[in-house]
Amino acid sequence: MSDLTVIVLAAGNGKRMKSKLPKVLHSIGGRSMVGHVLTAVQALEPDRVVTVVGHAREQVMAHIEQTHPHVAIAVQEEQLGTGHAARIGLSASGATTGDVLVLTADTPLLTGETLRWFVERHRSGNRAVSILTAEVPDPTGYGRIVRAHGGDVNAIVEDKDATEEQRAIAEINSGILAFDIDFLTSALPRLGNANASGEYYLTDAVKLAAEDGVRTGGYLLEDRLQTEGANDRVQLAALGQALNRRTVERWMREGVTVIDPATTWIHVDVELARDVTILPGVQLLGATIVGEDALIGPDTTLTDCEVGAGAHVARTHASLSVIGDGADVGPFAHLRPGTVLGARGKIGGFVETKNAQIGEGAKVPHLSYVGDATIGEGANIGAGTIFANYDGVKKHHTSIGAHVKSGSNVTFVAPVTVGDGAGTGAGSLIRQDVPAGAMALSAGPQRVIEGWAQAKRAGTAQAAAAEAAVAEGVLIRGERTPGEHEASHNGGTQIGDTPAGATQS
Ligand code: UD1
Ligand code: CA
Repeated sequence: MSDLTVIVLAAGNGKRMKSKLPKVLHSIGGRSMVGHVLTAVQALEPDRVVTVVGHAREQVMAHIEQTHPHVAIAVQEEQLGTGHAARIGLSASGATTGDVLVLTADTPLLTGETLRWFVERHRSGNRAVSILTAEVPDPTGYGRIVRAHGGDVNAIVEDKDATEEQRAIAEINSGILAFDIDFLTSALPRLGNANASGEYYLTDAVKLAAEDGVRTGGYLLEDRLQTEGANDRVQLAALGQALNRRTVERWMREGVTVIDPATTWIHVDVELARDVTILPGVQLLGATIVGEDALIGPDTTLTDCEVGAGAHVARTHASLSVIGDGADVGPFAHLRPGTVLGARGKIGGFVETKNAQIGEGAKVPHLSYVGDATIGEGANIGAGTIFANYDGVKKHHTSIGAHVKSGSNVTFVAPVTVGDGAGTGAGSLIRQDVPAGAMALSAGPQRVIEGWAQAKRAGTAQAAAAEAAVAEGVLIRGERTPGEHEASHNGGTQIGDTPAGATQS
């Protein structure tokens, strides 16, 4: 909108939050309250936007510079009231023509569409000042809209200054006002502070307009949640829930199946493709993106993740990770930052990954830790495998080639590299590089000490079971042994041509 200046008031301290964090930095739907308001403002494409900061200004300024770098910032050293704050904002803006939209920074459900509608009403009605109003069941604390018979607004009376009769008015000031700049410039220096709070009220400009005989307009917004502010954490949670309901409904209308909207939480910046299905207990957070036909949940939290088309992600906690098309994750998987799972790959139950690139069709199906690793396409990592990446001082990388088959319970001690098509035997401790196609076995030969239970655990159920089996001549379960024990039962090598215990999946 051309010739429009926006002033966002964010200098107050938000005492009722009882927080180290300034009120306007509390977030819902994955975005701070001031971030929501500035995003709505940005949709108007105004000429200038100024945010007035004061309380905890360093934190608020740093946040705005990061999220909305084009927004100017003005400092209100002492919080003398909304009228004083608007004056500081206006002079910082340098604006001299057009209209000025003033809003507070704590109405996170406000949309750009609503602001556009309101400014258009203000302009087409040719008003000196317009107020966006709402009707609320409990108007306590708000400024009340006092209308003249013709419908123009005569005054906004603050709760603390209102008479009994005025307190009964249900129509309230949302805190969002639009001004003709000439009127605002003339009104601001005329505001006084002789009121119950001793503050310069911006809302008193309405009374001045009525006295000046210029037109005022009060425009009622049906969707009152958009004008609701969060002053404490109870209201913050209620607005967070309302925002989430809106976000979830928006995605359902876009073709996403949500089985249980009540337990599905979706941040405002998340992107979902059509025919995604979300099962109960899912949180899609940050800048998460989910591709077509993916099935997410139940009980899954994805923060800043990218999930490919047709992937399945069940009971998983993941952040800053990429899950390829058709890949399968969980249940009970933990994907830490830097995990990249290729198309049709698998990260199965009780697997933790971090900074791990797992190739197409590669599988880490069970009970493993994969940190600082590259796993080639089609490789299969056996159950219980640990990538020992940390030597106590530094982290090191492990590289596993394409189509490697690693046995169960292998430890790869980084830095180490396993060539394409190689294998590692169950229980191996891999400290040295394994060439392509080789089989590496490090588990020692098995030692068998016959009669150990009878000798060392005499009198126990274990020893009794052993004695009974020996008496029957059944040394191996199910196999009746011939009279002579064979050498292989007594410390011979156990290595066959396939390493026992390699996990298939
Ligand atoms: C204000 C309005 C009230 C309206 C309500 C809507 C005034 C006098 N009253 O009341 O009519 O119904 O909002 O929520 O405007 N701020 C500053 N500097 C200051 C004082 C406030 O930047 O010196 C900022 C606050 O950070 C906040 C906003 O202005 O974002 C509103 O201030 P607040 O003190 O919350 O006003 P209310 O009493 O809620
Ligand atoms: Ca307020």
